[in-house]
Amino acid sequence: MRFAKTLLSLLSVLATSQHALGQFATRLGGVNTAGYDFSVDTNGDYSGTAAPPPTSQYTHFTSEGANLYRIPFAWQLMTPTLGGTIDSTFFSEYDQTVQAALSSGSGVYVIVDLHNYARWNGDIVGQGGPTNAQLASIWTQLASKYGSNEQVIFGLMNEPHDLNVTEWAATLQYVVNELRSAGSENYLLLPGSTYSSAEAFPTEAGPYLVQITDPLGGTGKLLFDVHQYLDSDNSGTHDTCVTTNVATLETLVSFLQNNGNRQAILSETGGGETTSCYTDLGEELSYVKSAYPTLVGFSAWSAGSFDTTYVLTLTPYSNGTDETLWTEAVRPYLP
Ligand SMILES: *[C@@H]1O[C@H](CO)[C@@H](O)[C@H](O)[C@H]1NC(C)=O
Ligand SMILES: *[C@@H]1O[C@H](CO)[C@@H](O)[C@H](O)[C@H]1NC(C)=O
Repeated sequence: MRFAKTLLSLLSVLATSQHALGQFATRLGGVNTAGYDFSVDTNGDYSGTAAPPPTSQYTHFTSEGANLYRIPFAWQLMTPTLGGTIDSTFFSEYDQTVQAALSSGSGVYVIVDLHNYARWNGDIVGQGGPTNAQLASIWTQLASKYGSNEQVIFGLMNEPHDLNVTEWAATLQYVVNELRSAGSENYLLLPGSTYSSAEAFPTEAGPYLVQITDPLGGTGKLLFDVHQYLDSDNSGTHDTCVTTNVATLETLVSFLQNNGNRQAILSETGGGETTSCYTDLGEELSYVKSAYPTLVGFSAWSAGSFDTTYVLTLTPYSNGTDETLWTEAVRPYLP
């Protein structure tokens, strides 16, 4: 009896650690559906109006092979008071979008993306602005909604920038610990600085972020969140592309492999409706696909509530036809 019990608990420990240590084992590819983030600025200021992404886009893109949707939202919409409770009216609207994405296909994943640049109204989280506990509070509340759904990935923060990366790593560690204490077993996306730059990651925040531990055991459920654009200043504001980013991503992949075989998701990248971007973005996403499982996949920027004139739009035309960029450079590299 005693032996059996010991054996059982040993087996359950093994099962748990296998589970926790396991890398993300599904190739991901898809698109951002923006709208609930309109328009948080890079200072974390918000004075917008939520523009719910059209839910028809999820069945549209899923039927073409997409299995990842990143759904950004403004912190101030989810919790109108810093550190306060989630606004039930807003959450219900946001959740309808999340559920529409998840139910568009059986293997679809959603990144719930807090789109606030590590800031609330100009002040940096854990560095004079919101406390680490205030950031953890919104996430533990979201965990009470989504903590049992493995297909919901928590994007802990969009594009931190101009902050102390040592302290930022401590902030992320705090949030990871609080989420696990709250029972969440979700995959978590940890962003570095310089607007989540994939190029900066290996030498800037990466060395600090690889040290973050997971109370679940292992680090398989802590993925890194990177962004990279292909225009002249890596800002994603021009319609022409000047790089494939392959060299940058190769450097990132080496860093991840040499630091515990970690994984990352390219959760923003994109280009304009121009031949340079059809070529360069296609080559980039072809590389991302080939670098699986170190690079788990990508979500391109952006469909959702952007209209078809936005410089980086991937929103289909009203007649249902896709943007040429999507057809040429994104769709061929979906999972
Ligand atoms: C960043 O924060 C750490 C920890 O508080 C501190 O030791 C370090 O000097 C800071 N770095 C900079 C560049 O200010
Ligand atoms: C759909 O609309 C776009 C933009 O106006 C146009 O370029 C395309 O030819 C149309 N496709 C069809 C099948 O009508």
